[in-house]
Amino acid sequence: MAAAEAKAGISLRRAHAAEAFLRAEALDLIEIVADHYLQPHPRRNRGLAALRERFTIVPHGLDLSLGSAEGLNVPYLRALATLVDVVRPPYWSEHVAFTRAGGRAIGHLAPIPYTDEALEVVARNVARAQSAIAVPLALENIACPFDVPFATMTEGAFFKRLVERTGCSMLLDVANLYYNALNRGTDPFRLLDEYPLDAVVQCHLAGGHRSQATWIDSHAQPVPEGVWQLFENVAARAPLKAAIVERDENLPAFSELAAEAARARSIMRRCAA
Ligand SMILES: [Fe+2]
Repeated sequence: MAAAEAKAGISLRRAHAAEAFLRAEALDLIEIVADHYLQPHPRRNRGLAALRERFTIVPHGLDLSLGSAEGLNVPYLRALATLVDVVRPPYWSEHVAFTRAGGRAIGHLAPIPYTDEALEVVARNVARAQSAIAVPLALENIACPFDVPFATMTEGAFFKRLVERTGCSMLLDVANLYYNALNRGTDPFRLLDEYPLDAVVQCHLAGGHRSQATWIDSHAQPVPEGVWQLFENVAARAPLKAAIVERDENLPAFSELAAEAARARSIMRRCAA
């Protein structure tokens, strides 16, 4: 069940930064894309300091590549550790995916095959990240419209073993799970049962679009009703501390995202009561 003091906010984009300050009372916390703050830059550092004064911030990594069999990119991990040190968040988050292989950057979050071998790789990389960053890590499920061949377990079973093994919590992206289910013709509520809901501390909420026969998690639309229903189910069962609305395309007015955050907050409060 969601915590009574569970917080709701948005993943902050530059276009909304000014209004986020003006209407700060609308947000309990914000998520920042960690990668935007890894290179020291005086203006960005001042912006981050100002955000830090006003908000609880959760850094969200994109490029740590926890699925890389060759191990983690050490300079990247160091930069992430410095950012977490500056921000002092309650936890930080990263995806279970790979973005680098054979020394090359792929440029997007690629899915890993859910096997024992991949579990060893991710657990080893998570342990390395935990040794560099003492703040708790929440691991996120990605969107993927197809099943990676050679998997020996489901994504939910993989996450169950991973959180048990690493002691990490889970950031459940409800939209990713929802669209993954739709793309496979599976019932998202049944799929949800496979995940370690007792380890889920945060949710992502977003809306995608359909391209021909495939649902794309594009963060381009308002959160659809199916995702809200699934989120309500999660909030009733998981020890949620926070929910974050993600939007990257068709950026609406700040008030629209704040209203979605408010809806997430009221669902969590209702489920905590
Ligand atoms: Fe997400």
